[in-house]
Amino acid sequence: MKIAMIGTGYVGLVSGACFSDFGHDVVCVDKDESKIDALHAGRMPIYEPGLDALVAANVAAGHLSFTTDLATAVAGADAVFIAVGTPSRRGDGHADLSYVFGAAEELAATLDHGCVIVTKSTVPVGTGDEVERILRESAPTRAHSVASNPEFLREGAAIGDFKRPDRIVIGTEDARGEAVLREVYRPLFLNEAPILVTRRRTAEMIKYAANAFLATKITFINEIADLCEAVGAEVQDVARGIGLDNRIGAKFLHAGPGYGGSCFPKDTLALLKTAQDHDVPLRLVEATVQANDLRKRAMGRKIVQAMGGSARGKTVALLGLTFKPNTDDMRDSPSLAIVQTLLDAGARVTAYDPEGMVIAAPMMPEVEMQQSAYAAADGAHAVAIVTEWDAFRALDFDRLGGVMADRLLVDLRNIYRRDEVLRHGFRHIAIGSSAE
Ligand SMILES: NC(=O)c1ccc[n+]([C@@H]2O[C@H](COP(=O)([O-])OP(=O)(O)OC[C@H]3O[C@@H](n4cnc5c(N)ncnc54)[C@H](O)[C@@H]3O)[C@@H](O)[C@H]2O)c1
Repeated sequence: MKIAMIGTGYVGLVSGACFSDFGHDVVCVDKDESKIDALHAGRMPIYEPGLDALVAANVAAGHLSFTTDLATAVAGADAVFIAVGTPSRRGDGHADLSYVFGAAEELAATLDHGCVIVTKSTVPVGTGDEVERILRESAPTRAHSVASNPEFLREGAAIGDFKRPDRIVIGTEDARGEAVLREVYRPLFLNEAPILVTRRRTAEMIKYAANAFLATKITFINEIADLCEAVGAEVQDVARGIGLDNRIGAKFLHAGPGYGGSCFPKDTLALLKTAQDHDVPLRLVEATVQANDLRKRAMGRKIVQAMGGSARGKTVALLGLTFKPNTDDMRDSPSLAIVQTLLDAGARVTAYDPEGMVIAAPMMPEVEMQQSAYAAADGAHAVAIVTEWDAFRALDFDRLGGVMADRLLVDLRNIYRRDEVLRHGFRHIAIGSSAE
């Protein structure tokens, strides 16, 4: 099959590379020349494990190419995927659909044959109808089919998620859209990935409902963690105790500094906006959004509290800045609010992140970026683990403590056992534990 991918970001590039690896011919297009130039030079514009090798192999095999020219990309395509960004619209939280509609308008002006147009971007219910209207109005005689195929990959594990998905959701209003998408994903059906074919609006809703549920699950365990601290219980044991129940499931029960990233924050807001527009209260999601927002700054205060309630004249070293490990994505990372709270409290802040510092540095100019955990900890009164990169899972505590002003570890990801930390003369503050 011949596939065009509009938008070569975290989703478009991974999806395009994986489709080409299935044997399809894929052209990825992006407006951002620097991304396409980098890809032409064999450099990845994002950090995603395994992506460079996957891209290189499929470019060499002649299945994958990159361009800034939409017309070249879509010429003769059987399916055109729209994988552009849908950030929060300033002011009301609605998904900003200008990139999606912009791509649809460009397509309407460019496509000279009927084909299947698929929104892979996360878009509010009804967006497919609007994309269809845009295409139909400009070229009423061309037979396009507009489908929804939401993407569920996770940054940091994106290739594995794409190639071994829990499910594939296809939302269509006609047989042609379903037939083409079944063909696109055929290699995965052979691996028995479950496929769910629904109406287009239902597929659009599934993506938001999934993200809102996961955000709620995280927020639930975070609030239980706060209660554990107050009553003398251990949240990790509580999480295990409830997660072993098959009806609940163990995933997304890790208490931490609050969810961030490019999806949950904006998608929960967009879902709430849709619900408000239709006069349907989603109280659980509202509470989740509010609790999570408050939590991020509360984590900064937790660090200040651990230093005796005052941060003035003190240095805090943050280990990890990205919203999760194995990505360089800083969008809505909890570290942004934590840094601001620490700076507001008068702290000097240093940081080290294995992949995120290039993007993070301009977002937090006051933070002194260092080249290792130990350099960041030099002279620090507290080290706080903000992101659970593997690089922080086996810290040399003697070396760390040797350069710090005070031996204090605030483990916002609960990656260390208390006895291990205490053994090296550190104080240890974790999430959801009353012990010190
Ligand atoms: N990042 C994730 O983990 C993830 C997971 C699932 C779903 N999604 C959804 O996928 C969509 C894309 O997310 P992302 O993280 O890949 O975004 P991104 O910002 O990394 O990439 C979007 C790309 O689209 C390009 N673009 C915008 N308009 C264009 C146009 N008209 N023509 C060509 N290129 C254009 C931009 O230059 C950018 O490179 C969003 O709706 C997001 O919610 C993201």
